[in-house]
Amino acid sequence: MFNEKEVEWGKLGFAYVKADYNYVSCYKDGKWDDGKLVKENTLTISNGSTALHYGQQCFEGLKAYRAKDGSVQLFRPDQNAKRMIKSCQKLLMPEFPVERFIDACIQTVKANERFIPPYGSGATLYLRPFMIGVGDNVGVRPAEEYIFSIFVTPVGPYFKAGLSPVNFITSDYDRAAPAGTGAVKVGGNYAASLESHLLAAKQGYADCIYLDPATHTKIEEVGAANFFGITKDDKFVTPLSPSILPSITKYSLLHVAKEYLKMPTEERDCYIDKIDEFKEAGACGTAAVITPIGGISHKGKLHVFYSEKEVGPVTRKLYDTLFGIQMGDIEAPEGWI
Ligand code: COI
Repeated sequence: MFNEKEVEWGKLGFAYVKADYNYVSCYKDGKWDDGKLVKENTLTISNGSTALHYGQQCFEGLKAYRAKDGSVQLFRPDQNAKRMIKSCQKLLMPEFPVERFIDACIQTVKANERFIPPYGSGATLYLRPFMIGVGDNVGVRPAEEYIFSIFVTPVGPYFKAGLSPVNFITSDYDRAAPAGTGAVKVGGNYAASLESHLLAAKQGYADCIYLDPATHTKIEEVGAANFFGITKDDKFVTPLSPSILPSITKYSLLHVAKEYLKMPTEERDCYIDKIDEFKEAGACGTAAVITPIGGISHKGKLHVFYSEKEVGPVTRKLYDTLFGIQMGDIEAPEGWI
């Protein structure tokens, strides 16, 4: 049983903790019901559910942060709502409206307030909204019924080291096809990444780096996170490709780099054979926040960026500014909180 008085918040990893309440809304006969908070963390669904057989499902990840004054803030939930709509459009699922998505997040966070880590612990409350196709089906076609649900869990760093560099290795496998589902947040992309991750982990790396599926020459993603590099002349660079998931953290960092740190920014190809153009590099995402990349192993050679042990100064500034905004210590751009 979770006891908020005894938990060592600073020691939390990225793991599932059963919270008190989950949000559930059901779609039937062409409309969503009003939605409600329930205590059970189990869903009873037909064995013919399209989510189970044909991967008709999508999900999101966002966080709630406890600020210094005790208040709680969500970071850009509208962006998650909009990205989920894109995932739904891609898999022919019904859209869950933006306003309802935000309201459902707020209800779920409020109901689970005792799970929100305290300010200064470094931990946050992770929200996992998801949608699944359900009902009695067997043919390959969109379901007629759906469940939208949200659970929360208090989390620490996604990569064990937190804000310390970890190494990655390029994968020979692809995560998503160029004109496939790489740009939407659907479970199939993550199922396709499990073997590559395992192979990387077995060799002692934190995760793998995916190269572009067509030519295997350009960096696309870092495991379940996006990639960025800092050039020798202090530009913030991140790849752009139709098979990359548009990370809300990455787009927030593009803004932070440009507007807060006054750095030039570019979204463009990052060739694996030219990674020495970057003096620092990192993985970014809701779960990963910013994880400094110590080095990348490619074709048997390890390329080290700033250091395998220490965080580079630009990466640290980016982290401090973004996390400062998320925690309410630094003024956020209009509409982000
Ligand atoms: C996130 O950063 O929220 C993710 O979805 C990554 C991963 C935990 C699947």
